[in-house]
Amino acid sequence: MADIILGIESSCDDTSAAVIRDGYLLSNVIASQEVHRAYGGVVPELASRAHELNIVPVVSEALSRAGVGASELTAIAFTRGPGLLGSLLVGTSFAKTLGLSLGIPTVMVNHLQGHILAGFVRQLDKPVREPSFPYLCLLVSGGNSQIVRVDDPLHFEILGQTIDDAVGEAFDKCSKMMGLGYPGGPIIDKLAAAGDPDRFKFARPRIPGLDYSFSGVKTSLLYFVRDEMSKDPLFMEKNKEDICASFQKCLIDILMDKLIKAAKKTGIREIAIGGGVSANSGLRSRITQEGLKRGWNTYLPEFKFTTDNAAMIAIAGYYHYLAGERAPLDVAPVSRMSDFDR
Ligand code: KG4
Repeated sequence: MADIILGIESSCDDTSAAVIRDGYLLSNVIASQEVHRAYGGVVPELASRAHELNIVPVVSEALSRAGVGASELTAIAFTRGPGLLGSLLVGTSFAKTLGLSLGIPTVMVNHLQGHILAGFVRQLDKPVREPSFPYLCLLVSGGNSQIVRVDDPLHFEILGQTIDDAVGEAFDKCSKMMGLGYPGGPIIDKLAAAGDPDRFKFARPRIPGLDYSFSGVKTSLLYFVRDEMSKDPLFMEKNKEDICASFQKCLIDILMDKLIKAAKKTGIREIAIGGGVSANSGLRSRITQEGLKRGWNTYLPEFKFTTDNAAMIAIAGYYHYLAGERAPLDVAPVSRMSDFDR
């Protein structure tokens, strides 16, 4: 009998549900919350309220697009954390209630593991290149920047991570500071495509080992823009493409520097990326170039699997389900990675 898993993701500002059958994607529905745009960032209380409104229609749509009835489901996988507690509570409570009413098990998933395994979502209409184990995953999102060694779908080790801001946060905060809008990553990416990446230089962190830091580069951009604007109030408007291109290059250099070190240290040449920032065109082309130069096999997720989505939660949940894991009924969401017990 086929294993049909419903995945539910609600860790931040996207309500998503997906259905997979034996690891193959049947549907993946995402309702993004536009309400936060006016505030230049995610407002937690508004996010949880929007999840409450979206969760039933999103799950119904995912089942209907998959052509699967609720009674055919084998298990429900949900994001337990890390993320915004109020948002996670909606998905977790919904999954547990639906599981209980259908008499089927639930499986909890670490959101970051979902991003790491996004490349394993199989699709009926096209073959997917999957990294072989062990591989390194550069996990870059609005909340995390990590280099993770993945030994198999259920076992991974964080080799390095940010000690302050995440790289996506640097994109978002700097975009807001420059008055460009939210979310900053896609806006800076687009402007950078028309700019000179070597025109301006920003401070690079000096952090030992494989850890990252992005707060210094953010401050460096803040002072640079402030000083230049005091000389010419139109400086930003006249130079925004070059500023974005130079800033983006600086962030990519920082990411790549540690990734190259990690690949040398571990001897691993299977290199994947994941998370919202893995949609960045500069990062994608840079990792591809480095791969060609260094003999790496590189794996870039499809754009639809870069930002938060339930397909990645369903596939991670599928592996946990096959391993016999089941979530207890009293399981509660966790907001921080350090509170996660796996
Ligand atoms: O993975 P994600 O959807 O949510 C988290 O779990 O954090 O990532 C969102 C982050 C935001 O910081 C957004 O600005 C960034 O991903 N992002 C990008 C691009 N598209 C989204 N950053 C750089 N370039 C992009 N094209």
